[in-house]
Amino acid sequence: MSAVDELLVAFRDYLQSRSNPVLQHFIEGFDWPTEERALAPHDLPVVTYLRELDQAANGAEGALRNRLSHAAAVLHWAQTYSITDFGGDFLERYGWVELFGTRGHFASEEMAGGFLLLGPGVHYRDHHHEAEEIYIPLTDGSLWSKDAQPFLPRWSGEIIHHPSNIRHAMRTEDQPLVALYLWRGGPLAQKSIISGRMQ
Ligand SMILES: [Fe+2]
Repeated sequence: MSAVDELLVAFRDYLQSRSNPVLQHFIEGFDWPTEERALAPHDLPVVTYLRELDQAANGAEGALRNRLSHAAAVLHWAQTYSITDFGGDFLERYGWVELFGTRGHFASEEMAGGFLLLGPGVHYRDHHHEAEEIYIPLTDGSLWSKDAQPFLPRWSGEIIHHPSNIRHAMRTEDQPLVALYLWRGGPLAQKSIISGRMQ
């Protein structure tokens, strides 16, 4: 098995091992993809933080993070935003990889899933999108805001659910964020809308 195949298996097994009802409802009946696309590796500056992460990789989340690190060099890391959205500094510290979905390493029209990386000291401002979303941080101490509420610290393994079109934002302090994400129920390749900005 390739590192990307192993990552998909680890991703699926991790989610299936969690008993959280919101998560289980989200993935219930999902036909896990098998058709692999030949995506060229694409590196980004933010991937450096994944390699250098100094938080201990403990438990099931740590094991999944290690699988991601192991596959990082062959993954197609991408960005949705451009320099005019959040500035150049943001682009140095932000990126994601779609493991499966309409354009990811495995083909699925039903659900997208992958990983988001944010470097330290990032404020990913309020944004929203039609798809319903689940995030599970694989690192500790990032700060999350939903529906314009105050930022709260979130910990590795927490399940964060964003209903369709609810605004949300994240911040990191001295540590980077690695988070698993799932999207379903909306256009799976939609660029998020930056809340409060006229498009
Ligand atoms: Fe989102």
